[in-house]
Amino acid sequence: MTELAVIGGTGALELFQARGERELESVWGEPSAPVALVSLGRTEAWFLARHGRPHRIPPHRINYRANIDGLRRLGVKRIISINAVGGIDPSLEPGRLVVPDQLIDYTWGRAHAFSDDAESPLLHVEFAHPFEGMLRESLLDAGQAAGVEMETKGCMAVTQGPRLETSAEIARLARDGCSIVGMTGMPETALAREAGLDYASLCAVANPAAGLEQEPITLKEIERVLATAMVEVRRLLECLKT
Ligand code: HPA
Repeated sequence: MTELAVIGGTGALELFQARGERELESVWGEPSAPVALVSLGRTEAWFLARHGRPHRIPPHRINYRANIDGLRRLGVKRIISINAVGGIDPSLEPGRLVVPDQLIDYTWGRAHAFSDDAESPLLHVEFAHPFEGMLRESLLDAGQAAGVEMETKGCMAVTQGPRLETSAEIARLARDGCSIVGMTGMPETALAREAGLDYASLCAVANPAAGLEQEPITLKEIERVLATAMVEVRRLLECLKT
């Protein structure tokens, strides 16, 4: 059985054709959706729609614990996460792909740990490098093989959402050293670490972050950009060797 999973977010729902489906089982409540078995080139992977199918669960309501626990129980060992993000660094134009190497967590009130009560083992997981090195390398190699240009580093700010940020918030995230901003990277990344699963993220810049441009950010424009970016994401994943 395949040990690789792809968790897809906004814009990634129709990325692959499903060849089968499986319910996820978890002691942490309801996962977002059943997983679909998909082919990535010659590799197989489980695909999980993070926001549910249809797309309906907002970032702060996703049951990240059930999703990660469910994948672990299925035998998954490695997770590639697809995240739509805003570009804080002005050089990161819409459509650009980024493989982040760092993150800063600005979320609050999310069920963010398995280590959560007296019954669960108390863990203080090592998290200096939140994304797993070999899996990041596999993504970068796949990008090269597919001829897909991408940014090989970046610090992802994870905000609470579901609203977009204010210009002042984005200015602060830039001062903090963040180059991209999304809403779903945490607690997913940390839970994967707690569960002992390798995890790396492939981000698609959907829009310039708030305040970088005069025009307001619209969902319609985000969807238009992501539709094109996801074609590149699919080409890249088809060259993935893990
Ligand atoms: N901010 C936060 N999350 C996002 C954005 C953004 O500008 N674009 C896509 N996801």
